[in-house]
Order: sequence, then structure tokens, then C-alpha cells
Amino acid sequence: MLIAITGATGFIGKRFMELAAEGGHRFVVLARRDPKAPGQVRFLSWSAETRLDAEAMKGVEAVVHLAGEPVAQRWSPEVKKHILQSRVEGTRSIVDAIDLAKGAVKVFVCASAVGYYGSRGDETLAESSAPGTGYLPDVCVAWEAEADKATRLGVRVAKLRIAMVLGCEGGALKTMETPFKLGVGGVLASGDQWMPWIHLDDMARLILYALENQQVSGVLNATSPNPVRNRDFTRIYASVLHRPAILPVPAFALRMLYGEMAQIILANQRVVPEAARKFGFVFQFPDLTMALRQIYPKRLCSKTVSAVVT
Ligand SMILES: NC(=O)c1ccc[n+]([C@@H]2O[C@H](COP(=O)([O-])OP(=O)(O)OC[C@H]3O[C@@H](n4cnc5c(N)ncnc54)[C@H](OP(=O)(O)O)[C@@H]3O)[C@@H](O)[C@H]2O)c1
Repeated sequence: MLIAITGATGFIGKRFMELAAEGGHRFVVLARRDPKAPGQVRFLSWSAETRLDAEAMKGVEAVVHLAGEPVAQRWSPEVKKHILQSRVEGTRSIVDAIDLAKGAVKVFVCASAVGYYGSRGDETLAESSAPGTGYLPDVCVAWEAEADKATRLGVRVAKLRIAMVLGCEGGALKTMETPFKLGVGGVLASGDQWMPWIHLDDMARLILYALENQQVSGVLNATSPNPVRNRDFTRIYASVLHRPAILPVPAFALRMLYGEMAQIILANQRVVPEAARKFGFVFQFPDLTMALRQIYPKRLCSKTVSAVVT
């Protein structure tokens, strides 16, 4: 099918496009720059403020919307405004274009984040759990509300509350890798906090699954069935990299380094993929050790660090 996609240049978008293109899908890429990606048949210059015309969705049957200002940066008031606006206005722009397509678009898969739940201790968080309070839950609630407007147009909508995505090419591991490989990684704060995570390939497969399976709609937690505490994540990550992890990082140091954004790193979120399992999705990497071993078979992801440690 012809899929319109935003976020094609991003960590998740790139992997998703590779996977979907292998399966014969083709893309209309909506982005700020032309990625000339696999399977791309058309490029449209797009940012969150763009008002698309009826031609934009010509021939398009499905839309995948991943674009958004990166959250993993220091949150100045300006950055917080961009994080919110890029998601709310961006989703509105896409839903307006779906509306103009007058029934041609059948399915809309929209990113959201486990940030929806806030920090909740040991509580098990399924899709029906209430949102948390604070900046990030508010952003996710507003983002999902815009996506829901497509439901009123008769479109099948799947909203993916994405957890920390694990892969070599980007995301959290790209930041964590260097200190761990240098043997200066360690437990964050108390280490008790639950960390939901998902392997990049499962993330890409889940987007494709949501597109291709009629029964999938509503909210799906995009997270492996086995969230781990930070203490266990640290131990497993260090052991897969064959490095020690003995230097704990206190919460105050993270707050000094990252400001308000540190709340993402310190969040306690025991999120489980109840809906994905109910809809029949099978995780290829349900176990963290298995996932990290696939990501780091023998080679080291980052060239700079491999030069230091080999
Ligand atoms: N990766 C994770 O662990 C994770 C976890 C939870 C939720 N998510 C969500 O999943 C989505 C995709 O994540 P990702 O890791 O692939 O993100 P990413 O690598 O940061 O890529 C973000 C994409 O959004 C576009 N973008 C950034 N700022 C934009 C703006 N102001 N207006 C329009 N487009 C903009 C970028 O396009 P340009 O090339 O034009 O910059 C890029 O294609 C994001 O919404 C993210 O919040 C990701």
C-alpha cells in the first residue's frame, strides 16, 4: 500500500521504512528535508505548521505519523513549547489532510509515548491506566486527542505509546553507550525505577502490524512484555558489553546535568503491552538480554568508542 509518513528521517522512521519497503509498501514522505528513503515514491516539504492540500494524500491508503521535536534535550521554555506544538499542530496538520482525502485513507498510526503515564512506582500500567500529571503527560494527552479526531472521520486509528527504543543507530543507547563502554556506566538514582523498553525491530514491526491488521485500533503500549528495574537494566547492559558498571549516578547529578528533562530518566514506569498481545502481536525480542545481544553481537556500535577499547 502507499503510506504517507512523517518522521521518516528519524531513528524509528528509518527502520520502519526499511522493513515496510521489504514487504512491498511504498511511501509519500512528508518531511523538512528529502531523505530519498527506500520505497519513497514522492516527497512533500512538510513541517508541523504546513497546511496540506487535497493532492497531498493522492493514492494514499495509510498514514504513519512519527515526527516531533526531540524530547531528550534540556527543556527551556522555548524547547517545551516546540515539543508540544510540533506534536499537537503536526498531528492536526496530518488529520486535516486525511480529512481532505475524503475517505481514501483507511488507517492512521500515530506515535505517542509512555510519558503519558508519568512516574507511578510499582503500579502496572496498561493502556486503560489513567494519565499521569505534569508536562509530559499533558503533552501526550493533547497529542493523542488530536489523533483521535481522525477516528471521527471513519479512519481506523492506532496510537502507539512508545517506550525507550533500543537500537544502535539512535535513541537512548546512543547516549548510554559511551560511558558504559568506557566502564563508567552505573545505576541511576536508587536503581529501583522500572524502565519500559522495546527493541527497534519490534517497534518497526508493531507499526507495520497496526497498519496491516484490521482488528488493531485504539491505544497500544509499544513496549516489551518485560520492563526491568534500572538496576537490572544496568547489570544486563554492562554484562552484554563485558564492562563493569560500578559508578552510580545520583538523582541530583542527573537533575543538574539535564534540568527538568531528568524526570524522563528517573521516571518509574512499569508499562506492559496488554493491547499488543490481545491483538496477537508477537514480540521477537521480549527479553532484555536477548535484545541487547542482538544489538551488540560482538561488534561495538560506535566507531569512536571501539577505537578506545579495542
Ligand atoms: N525513540 C524513542 O525511544 C521514543 C520513545 C518514546 C516516544 N518516541 C516518539 O516517537 C517518535 C519518533 O521517535 P524517533 O526516536 O524516531 O525520533 P527522532 O529520531 O528524534 O526523529 C524525529 C523525527 O521528527 C522530525 N522532527 C523533529 N522536530 C520536528 C519539528 N519541529 N517539526 C516537524 N518534524 C520534526 C525529524 O525530522 P527532521 O529530519 O526534519 O529533523 C525526525 O524525522 C517521536 O515523536 C518520539 O517522541 C520515541
